[in-house]
Amino acid sequence: MSLAGLLEEVRARPLPQHVAIIMDGNGRWAKARGLPRTEGHRRGADTVERIARFVAKEKLFPYLTVFAFSTENWDRPKNELDFLFSLLEEFARTRWEELRKNGVQLRILGDPSPFPKSLREALDHAVAQTAGGQNLVFTVALNFGGRWDVLSAARRAMELARSGKLAPEELSLEKFRELLPGGALPDPDLIIRTGGHQRLSNFFLFEAAYTEFYFTKTLWPDFTEEELLLALKDFQGRTRNFGKVRA
Ligand code: FPP
Repeated sequence: MSLAGLLEEVRARPLPQHVAIIMDGNGRWAKARGLPRTEGHRRGADTVERIARFVAKEKLFPYLTVFAFSTENWDRPKNELDFLFSLLEEFARTRWEELRKNGVQLRILGDPSPFPKSLREALDHAVAQTAGGQNLVFTVALNFGGRWDVLSAARRAMELARSGKLAPEELSLEKFRELLPGGALPDPDLIIRTGGHQRLSNFFLFEAAYTEFYFTKTLWPDFTEEELLLALKDFQGRTRNFGKVRA
């Protein structure tokens, strides 16, 4: 089916609010072509922009989050880390205007404090310049991990308790959710993982309690607008009960 046909089909049914993507397979994409892993990341960055632009332009859904750097990714070789940082900086410096033109509001989720200063400045600038975007909240999870997210909320709750602003019995699920860094976004309805592995790898934990998953063998640099639509179509065929029995 053509892209236009698929678009029409998914638009006819309820769409998710928040789609999150685990972009896996950059290294394998490069290796299969005899290229350095870094080339896979470069192509992966192009895919990120292509997909975000498509979602914003088509106003497919209002929240898109991509997992670009996890709290575990620090264990990679230094040259790969340096490359990823410079790629992210280049992305922030050179693509914010294009994002803004497409009504994209860029946000960062995670702890940027260990990143190089020039990267943090570029990200801050891009976030500030795109703050008015109305078509899509595009969140890049950077130095993010689900366990870090839950731990951050626990620490905030303890701070509030210590300063007498919150009693233990007042800490409800709703309140705890508000304290999560990831809680500023609606819970993801759909998590897509490319690259063939079927695991969460410490992405959203608390927020993914009722998330639907879509796993594909496609390596991230090869991921297309069409496959995004196929994932949405698959999602639309699911029955979501949220633990309840359907009336
Ligand atoms: C996983 O592939 C990918 C990453 C850890 C990095 C993701 C980064 C990008 C897509 C580029 C920059 C992002 C933005 C937002 C501009 P892998 O290296 O683990 O692949 P492998 O499993 O094949 O080794």
